[in-house]
Amino acid sequence: MRGIGKSFGGVAVLSDVELAVAPGEVMALLGSNGAGKSTLVKILTGVYTRDAGTVKVDGEPVVFADPRAAVAAGVRLLPQEISVMGDMTVAENISLADLPTRAGPGFPMVDDRAMNKQSRALLDQLGFASIDVNALVKRLSVAEQRIVEIARALAGQARVLVMDEPTAALTEQEAKLIFRIIQSLKEQQVAVIYISHYLNEVFEISDRIAVLRDGRNAGLFTTAAASRGEVLAAMLGRVADDLYDFAGGGNAGEEVLTTSGLSVPGKLDTIDMAVRSGEIVGVFGLIGSGIETLGRAVYGALGPATRGTILMTGTAYRPESAGRGKARGIGFVAADRKQEGIIGDLTVRENMVAPFQDRYVQGLFVSRSAETEQAKRWIDLLGIRTRGPEQTMRTLSGGNQQKVCVSRWLVDSVKLLILEEPTRGVDVGARREIYMELRALADRGLAVLVLSSDVEEVAGISDRSLVLDRGRIVGRFDKGALPAELMAATTNDPAFNAA
Ligand SMILES: Nc1ncnc2c1ncn2[C@@H]1O[C@H](COP(=O)(O)OP(=O)(O)OP(=O)(O)O)[C@@H](O)[C@H]1O
Ligand SMILES: [Mg+2]
Repeated sequence: MRGIGKSFGGVAVLSDVELAVAPGEVMALLGSNGAGKSTLVKILTGVYTRDAGTVKVDGEPVVFADPRAAVAAGVRLLPQEISVMGDMTVAENISLADLPTRAGPGFPMVDDRAMNKQSRALLDQLGFASIDVNALVKRLSVAEQRIVEIARALAGQARVLVMDEPTAALTEQEAKLIFRIIQSLKEQQVAVIYISHYLNEVFEISDRIAVLRDGRNAGLFTTAAASRGEVLAAMLGRVADDLYDFAGGGNAGEEVLTTSGLSVPGKLDTIDMAVRSGEIVGVFGLIGSGIETLGRAVYGALGPATRGTILMTGTAYRPESAGRGKARGIGFVAADRKQEGIIGDLTVRENMVAPFQDRYVQGLFVSRSAETEQAKRWIDLLGIRTRGPEQTMRTLSGGNQQKVCVSRWLVDSVKLLILEEPTRGVDVGARREIYMELRALADRGLAVLVLSSDVEEVAGISDRSLVLDRGRIVGRFDKGALPAELMAATTNDPAFNAA
C-alpha cells in the first residue's frame, strides 16, 4: 500500500500512508486509539474505498470494490468486533464465504457433509479437535468463536491475513493458541498483518512493526532490533511515562459498598468485601474466575439469582434488577460494549446521556443544549477523539467508544462505579488517561470497583486488591502488591464453570 489517503466528512483520517508485508512475515501495526489502523486495513480488504494511493498484491495494482473481491484475491480481514453468526453451526460459519454446493433438484444445494468434513479438517489442522462442527456458535466461548473466525478466513486460502486486535477478549492462554496459528500461517507463507495494543504480544510474534500516528506513518522497526521505548515514543510522539506513576489516593472514607456472603450459584461463592468512598478496589481474576459475574451481581443485572447481603452506604439493597442498582447510585461499565447498550447508530451525545436522560429535562422538554454542553465537557475531560458530540458512535475508534462508556456514569448521583475490563482495547496513552481519571474520581469521593483480567492493571491502580479464583476470593492485598503476587494467588482451572 502506497500513498494511501482517506477522509471522512472532510476530516483526513489517513494521509500518504505506506504499508508492505512479505509472504511468511508478520507485520505488526501499532498506534493509539483513532490513529487509523482499522481504517487502513479496511481499505486493504475492500470494506472502505480509498481516496488516494495504490494497493498492489504480488506487484499487480488492485482495486477491491467490496470485501468479496478482496477475499477472491486471497486478502482477508478478521475484524476488530467478532463477526460470527451465533445461530449457525460452526461448520456453516467456517464455510460462510464459499459454501460447498452439490446439484439439487433444479438448483444447487449446500452440501452439508462436504461442509462438515472440510470444517473438521481445518479445525484439526489448527489443533482444535475439541470444537464440534455441529455446535451452534453462540454456545462457544469467545475464544472459540475467534478460532472459528480464523478457520473461516483460512478456508478460502488466504495469502494476506489481517487480524485486528484478535486477542482483545482472550485470556493469555487463549492468546497463545492464536500465536500458534500465526506460526503455522508463517510456515505456509501467508503474509500476516497483526493489530494489537499489547506490546508483549507484538514483540513476541512480529517480524517488523509499523507505527501509525494521527493517520500518518510514524515509524517502521525490525522487531528483533527495536526497544519498547522507541516503539512507544513513535506511537505517542513522546517518551512514555510510567503507566501507573501518578499521585493521589490514601483518603478512603466510609464504606459505600459492603457485601457479605454474596453468591451466585455456580459462579460466585460467599464474597465478603467492601469498597469505601475515595478508594479504588481492584479485583483480579482470569476469565471464568467470576470477575465477569461479580460486577453484574452487585449492579443487579443478574436479578434474583443473587444471594447474600449487599449494603449501599449502610442500607440493605436487593439487586433485583439493573434499574435498582442505578437508583441506588451504582454505575456499571461492562466489558462488552454491545451488551452495555451502546447504540452504534446514535450520536456520541445520545449515547453519553442515555442512562440519565431525565437530568436534561427542562419543563416538558429534553434540553438538547444541556446535553451538548455535558457531552462536550466529557469529551474534554476524557480526551475522547471525536469530531464532536454529533458524531455517530459506530464511527469512533474502539478505544474512544470505551471512553464514552465510562463518561456516561460520571454524574453526582453515582457513588459506586463498577468497571469491567476498563482498558480492554485501549492504547497505552489513553489507558493512562483513564487510570488518572479514575484516581481523580476516587479522590473526589467516588468508590471505584475495577474487575479485570489484566494483572498489571489491578496491581498498578488499586488501593486494595482482591484475587478471585473459581468464584471465591483467594487473596487480599494492600496497595503496592506486585503483579506476580496477585498472579501467584490464582490458579487457572477451566473445568470450573460446570454449574
Ligand atoms: N465510517 C467512519 N466515519 C467517520 N469517521 C470514521 C469512520 N471510521 C473511522 N473514523 C474515524 O477515523 C479515525 C481512525 O479510526 P480507526 O478506527 O481507524 O482507528 P484505530 O487506529 O483502529 O483505533 P482503535 O485502536 O481505537 O481501534 C477515528 O478518528 C474515527 O473516528
Ligand atoms: Mg481499530
